[in-house]
Amino acid sequence: MAYIVNHLPEYPNERVLVGPKTFADAGIYKISDDMATVSTLDFFTPVVNNPYDYGQIAAANALSDVYAMGGKPLTAMNILCYPIKSLDRDIVVEILKGSADKVDEAGAVIIGGHTLQDSEIKYGLSVTGIIHPDRIVTNAGARAGDVLVLTKPLGTGLIISAIKADKVLEEHVNLATRSMVLLNKTASEAMLEAGASACTDITGFGLMGHAYELAEASKVTLSFFAGRIPIFDGCERYVRMGLMPGVSKLSKKYLKDAIRINPKVREELVDVLFDAQTSGGLLISIPKGKAEILCTKLKERGALTYDVVGEVRERGDVSIIVTP
Ligand code: CO
Ligand code: CO
Repeated sequence: MAYIVNHLPEYPNERVLVGPKTFADAGIYKISDDMATVSTLDFFTPVVNNPYDYGQIAAANALSDVYAMGGKPLTAMNILCYPIKSLDRDIVVEILKGSADKVDEAGAVIIGGHTLQDSEIKYGLSVTGIIHPDRIVTNAGARAGDVLVLTKPLGTGLIISAIKADKVLEEHVNLATRSMVLLNKTASEAMLEAGASACTDITGFGLMGHAYELAEASKVTLSFFAGRIPIFDGCERYVRMGLMPGVSKLSKKYLKDAIRINPKVREELVDVLFDAQTSGGLLISIPKGKAEILCTKLKERGALTYDVVGEVRERGDVSIIVTP
């Protein structure tokens, strides 16, 4: 993607506060001194077999980039591709219902969309929210002395891969679905109240990929304590079964020189750290002194996990260090 973006012409515009060149989660456009819009879009093929759940997950995932920057979503538009002649219309209704319910829970509303004939289902949303221009949380604000908090366990990519291979245990589907449908709304509110310095949501590049972007943007080194990173039951087993998604393997290969992993960390666990997430949690960087307030707020508001999983150090020779 970097290759493509770097080959496009630039159209400087002083109202664009966050644009494509920063590879941030969403774009931000200033309307006035106290208001900016935050825009984002995401869509993908079904990740679970239940169409209502798939709709909820697609919505929670699309909304997530607004939350990662501290914005408030207002409106959304559907993007839907499906085999119009052959697919049962009730399935489409279920997908859209799941999504609409989730958008409603977010306090936003779907105001339109577009449908296209395709050989397979693809569904997602574009989302528009608002944010105060002075209160944007980016991935560039992490400072030495911060600690890192992760709000959902890792491993949804492996579980989705196991679903597609028909090798999944139902209990793992239920746990992962419960996590993927959970909005990052309350986690975002908690981080704003507690005074986070930086944030990113964990999606397709996995924890390591998004942490790498945060380390680069903030010019720091992130140090993770592998044993404290929450992962879903069954994930290491799915790694051993060879179910690591191709895109997760690519992240691992691409980042090999930027990350130093202590050899005592189990290889299966290392793979989970690179696992591509769908509707993953927020990775929040916050000054150490404010971390306890954040973790308490996250716990009270139903975050699935709320422990400190690492710390931010002065920039060293690598972007990320992983210790046991
Ligand atoms: Co994101
Ligand atoms: Co995204």
